[in-house]
Amino acid sequence: MLSNLQPQAPDKILMLIEEFKADTRQGKIDLGVGVYKDPQGVTPVMRAVKAAEQRIWETQTTKAYTGLAGEADYRNAMARMVLADVPADRLASVASVGGTGAIRQALELARLANPEVRVFVSDPTWPNHLSIMKFMGLPFTEYRYFDSETRGVDFDGMKADIAKAGKGDIVLLHGCCHNPTGANLTLDQWSEVVAVLEKSGAIPLIDLAYQGFGDGLDADAEATRLVARSLPEVLIAASCSKNFGIYRERTGILMALAENTSARDLAQGSMAYLNRQNFSFPPDHGARIVSTILTDDALRADWAAELEEVRNTMLGLRDQLASELRDLSGSDRFDFIARHRGMFSRLGATPEQVQKLKTDAAIYMVGDSRLNIAGLNRDTVPVLARAIIDAGI
Ligand code: LMR
Repeated sequence: MLSNLQPQAPDKILMLIEEFKADTRQGKIDLGVGVYKDPQGVTPVMRAVKAAEQRIWETQTTKAYTGLAGEADYRNAMARMVLADVPADRLASVASVGGTGAIRQALELARLANPEVRVFVSDPTWPNHLSIMKFMGLPFTEYRYFDSETRGVDFDGMKADIAKAGKGDIVLLHGCCHNPTGANLTLDQWSEVVAVLEKSGAIPLIDLAYQGFGDGLDADAEATRLVARSLPEVLIAASCSKNFGIYRERTGILMALAENTSARDLAQGSMAYLNRQNFSFPPDHGARIVSTILTDDALRADWAAELEEVRNTMLGLRDQLASELRDLSGSDRFDFIARHRGMFSRLGATPEQVQKLKTDAAIYMVGDSRLNIAGLNRDTVPVLARAIIDAGI
């Protein structure tokens, strides 16, 4: 039976990790997978995470099963972090296996509720969104998003395309720090998106994987909060991988805002059911780290301060890269790098130019020219800037 299996296309982002490891050149630079690295090139365990783990180790008395939806402490703390004002009478939530698990469960939930569901996704989007939908056999359409001239958002195109989503369809939106482009909507534009969805009855699914990496913990959630306040039904998939630096703990949450309490109860039951079908109980260790931090004033303050350091480091690198490129190119055509937010920017280079960066300068980025800003440091920024110019970008 197993010999009948077909080889699967490797994930392009994950493949880069292996290619980079195998490269023996000195001074190689990894700008591929979205993992934060400090100026020493290390992905650190955050101080508050260490402290929370120690506290858990000292006080935890059992590792018996948690609930199918995960622990209420975790879900409440996350709902407060994301939504600030939590409409408890409308909110269903389950802990998930990372942000990816929340996306998968959200799509499963949408299909359970509407077998005819279509999903509208930005062009481009995180490749795994597409891969999951293809695997599930879910029909999807891309809406215009990235303007390759300005490297900003093609907002008129986006509005026209998402208006084609009908009642009961899903429109997948990146809550902040768009992956892979780094180009984001303003709050005013989010209000216009809300108006389009209000009219059509399509349901937003917000992927919030980088809260705290763009303009700040609260600022990055503003769009999600606006949507949650304005529309009767909203799905939110949030990840703790990046902002808590607990990538391998697989900590995420799926939240569903329903029209009323009885619809909320139906959603809650279906979401717990989906957890049971897919993996039974969600992982607890990462969730417990997060709830320990978010419910303790001192730990929370220390975590928030470290997250700000991470965010400001990335902003500093953006400014430095834009300024080096301004000098080298004698133009402002790379200023979009300073305007983008989050871990990523899409350079707008051709696949050949991306390949040239790899071959000539041992600089690795995703083939669509997405670069991970957090893979840089003050010393490697000038190296990258020079290589970008040399590659004719
Ligand atoms: C990324 O986009 O690089 C991250 O979200 C990691 C991943 O799983 O692809």
